[in-house]
Amino acid sequence: MNRVFSGVQPTGNIHLGNYLGALKQFVELQEDHDCIYCIVDLHAITVAQDPKELRESILDVAALYLAVGVDPKKSIVFVQSSVSGHSELGWLLTCSSYTGELSRMTQFKDKGKGKESVPTGLFMYPVLMAADILLYDTNVVPVGIDQKQHIELTRDLCNRINNKYGDTFVLPEGRYLKEGAKIMALDDPTKKMSKSAENPLSRISLLDDESKIKKAIMKATTDSEGVIKFDMEKKPGISNLMNIYVSFSDLSIEDIEKKYEGKGYGDFKKDLVTIVVDGLAPIKKRFEEIRHSDELIEILRDGANRANEIAVPVLERFKNNLGVGI
Ligand code: AMP
Ligand code: TRP
Repeated sequence: MNRVFSGVQPTGNIHLGNYLGALKQFVELQEDHDCIYCIVDLHAITVAQDPKELRESILDVAALYLAVGVDPKKSIVFVQSSVSGHSELGWLLTCSSYTGELSRMTQFKDKGKGKESVPTGLFMYPVLMAADILLYDTNVVPVGIDQKQHIELTRDLCNRINNKYGDTFVLPEGRYLKEGAKIMALDDPTKKMSKSAENPLSRISLLDDESKIKKAIMKATTDSEGVIKFDMEKKPGISNLMNIYVSFSDLSIEDIEKKYEGKGYGDFKKDLVTIVVDGLAPIKKRFEEIRHSDELIEILRDGANRANEIAVPVLERFKNNLGVGI
């Protein structure tokens, strides 16, 4: 149960929710797992992309992975389109999938809703995701709970193929990121912090400057009680800020409640600004160092070579079992 694979789309700005909910766990996993982290550019083109911006986003996300602590000596970091096995296995799996099961995917239904014509890529998206996972004999896939349906489809395809063609793929398992790690929008703590929300002050992106961070935190929605006490139901705003505080400090929720007894939200928020700015500073520094470096390109090329070495025999195994080729 050692191989870990996860993918992240090269779109939007990585925010505190992504960092605390996903990236931080990716960094922890690499200590005792054989991790492969992929920037899924072929998934990004299932919706319209500006080619120049896409290329920049791919490198931004790659640099952020490294900046938060993914270590290319321990983990493989690469760009999906650099390993042609993803597209190839995508087609081979397509031939074992059914239009009915793909039509039932909620992400496809949501993204296609109200549109006159829906891109075929959006429909095929989950099959390509299954290819990403099965191509590496993956045991564990750390993802958000919203991806559960795609993981189940991957498992169905895996079982279907193993039953029909003999042992081919390793059956992967989803490892769903902790709900407790959910970070809520700063302007509306009943919603998840998200890349796509209209109000930029609803989120803090990892590369935001101090003044933006300050503005977002100082303006964050709280309640009128003015008491710093953790209660996600009755006081979601301040509780969300306390969660962020805990993530960037050595203090527990109880420590924070004690520390701010008798103090107001203003004092707490001011301290939180400093804590978040200081916490993100080394990430920003490392990002700046590496983003435009040759080192980044080398790491991604090396990652693609290492990924390809694992992928080729798995693909051969499947082609062999399918009876295609000579
Ligand atoms: P997305 O931004 O939806 O592509 O998500 C990328 C990863 O970050 C997924 O694994 C999500 O589970 C995680 N994530 C996204 N938003 C949040 C949030 N507000 N709180 C915690 N984790 C999140
Ligand atoms: N669909 C995932 C998301 O939107 C991204 C993804 C693509 C992925 N391929 C993957 C995640 C393989 C895990 C494993 O978040």
